[in-house]
Amino acid sequence: MAARGQFSTRIGFILAAAGSAIGLGNVWGFPTNVASNGGAAFVLVYLILAFLLAYPVLMVELLVGRHYQSNPVNAYRKLTGNIIGTIVGIIGLLTVSMILSFYAIVGGWIVTWCLHYFAMALGMTDAANWLVAFGNTRNVIFTIIFFVLTAAIVRNGVSEGIEKWSTRLMPLFFLIIVLLIIYVATLDGAGAGFRAYLTPDFSIITDPELIINAMGQAFFSLSLAVGTMLVYGSYISKKENIVSLGIWVAVLDISIAIVAGLLIIPAMYVAQANGVQIYNEAGSLISSDGLLFSVLPSLFETMTSTAIIVPIAFFTLMIIAAVTSSISMLEVPVSFAIENHNLTRNKATMLIAGSILLISLIIVFNFGSLFGLVITATTEWSQPLLGLVISIFAGWLWHRNNILEEIKQGNPDAASGLFFKIWPWYIKFVCPALIALMFWRSL
Ligand code: TRP
Repeated sequence: MAARGQFSTRIGFILAAAGSAIGLGNVWGFPTNVASNGGAAFVLVYLILAFLLAYPVLMVELLVGRHYQSNPVNAYRKLTGNIIGTIVGIIGLLTVSMILSFYAIVGGWIVTWCLHYFAMALGMTDAANWLVAFGNTRNVIFTIIFFVLTAAIVRNGVSEGIEKWSTRLMPLFFLIIVLLIIYVATLDGAGAGFRAYLTPDFSIITDPELIINAMGQAFFSLSLAVGTMLVYGSYISKKENIVSLGIWVAVLDISIAIVAGLLIIPAMYVAQANGVQIYNEAGSLISSDGLLFSVLPSLFETMTSTAIIVPIAFFTLMIIAAVTSSISMLEVPVSFAIENHNLTRNKATMLIAGSILLISLIIVFNFGSLFGLVITATTEWSQPLLGLVISIFAGWLWHRNNILEEIKQGNPDAASGLFFKIWPWYIKFVCPALIALMFWRSL
């Protein structure tokens, strides 16, 4: 078996892990949740849960990954010392594969919307319209294209594929999002959007529905509980201070969600100022796919043709967000196939991308019955339950000395820090209790 890959620089890891975390969940899921859960009230609850619940679980994965230097199946098997760990690793691996199967379909749509605006700019109206009309042929073609993009990066390995592309793409992402926010802020109606986004409705802040949605959003956004962050953690050098790396990733991810809200929510109000309907019959802001594929395109249409660069920039931003996330999903089963089944990286990537593509195609052809079901099963059930189980693993089964040793690697002064004193206790009692409570309330 070839030597394991490793991130070559500290910033390379941060951008790759932030690239995994920052995805459609931030640019689309978060503003959607804000729009349908009382604006700034959701933002506030999200901030609290992300730091108090998601960040500690992120550290479980990074620490377990680096300690055992292997994929989640082997890591959890070694941690528990029995088959339960293996099973949990495999369930995580299957869950992340299913997440990729629907993510790639959405990724394909984003690519079609980006090309749509290129076609418009070139005057190819028929092609432009075909690209954005819902249809099996289109969905199949662009899901395949999205898998090709993802696999092309993953097959080159950790430093030459994942790290290299994240380091190239993420700075571009940060630049585009800032430019778009500045641009939207200058348009009529943006002010009302900023106000709606930043004024919380405190009356709903303890609504269980809102809290559950915020927890689900935080787990999804930080790519938690299914092995993604564990695998990335296993590629971190023992010389690095992993506690601060984790903080960087969490802060970047959370900030970009908040920042994306500054783009999307004002953009909705600009759309309204231009005559686009932004409330549904029930009187709440249009969210989910209606927001991305109807409200925003209607907004873009009201801009003059010289501004075609704006939607192209927006969908390019989304493509970057999606691809730097999908590569992290594919890496989980790929690392398993390489290490446990002795495949070369190239073969493993092709085989696994091909298999998950098949699942995507099954979903495409049974869209009405499967698409929503797969999303619910993976993100509302599997992810929080796995989060619960792995915090129990780390809190109760992982030897305290091992944990403390691992935190100290690359961080000699760790023992005097707050994280060192609180986290092992916190992950033992607080995290499992919080997750279990919320999960139970959601039933
Ligand atoms: N976090 C990414 C987003 O916000 C998606 C993602 C990548 C993910 N890897 C994951 C979600 C693993 C759940 C599990 O879009």
